[in-house]
Amino acid sequence: MHRVHFRKENVTFDVPDGTNLRQACIDAGIDPYPVLGGLVSCRGKGFCGTCAVGVDEPSSLSPPARREAKYLKRLVSGLSDELRLSCQAAVHGPVTIETNPSMKEGWKTHGFYSGRYVPSWKSSS
Ligand code: FES
Repeated sequence: MHRVHFRKENVTFDVPDGTNLRQACIDAGIDPYPVLGGLVSCRGKGFCGTCAVGVDEPSSLSPPARREAKYLKRLVSGLSDELRLSCQAAVHGPVTIETNPSMKEGWKTHGFYSGRYVPSWKSSS
């Protein structure tokens, strides 16, 4: 069993090794999606990006598979393992999660779904 802590919700619980992070969120009653409860999501297929979460201990999750790594390159410029698609990550150790994470330096489009994304044409005015 591994301890999963959701910082914003201040919820902590234990999950068996290999538990899917998105499913752990849902089972705990925590919405991993920033808008509409994932209504516009791919429901865990790994191609919409709406389930992205911030991760404090990336090594506690399974490494991104090829499709996720490819998708994350569109969300994050440069190398960052602090943003993961929760539907593609399995828990293998204690981890702290930030749902709907704040934008960080180098994160590009993640905030689009939450309304925090400011397109470059808008921010320069
Ligand atoms: S739910 Fe669509 S990428 Fe995770």
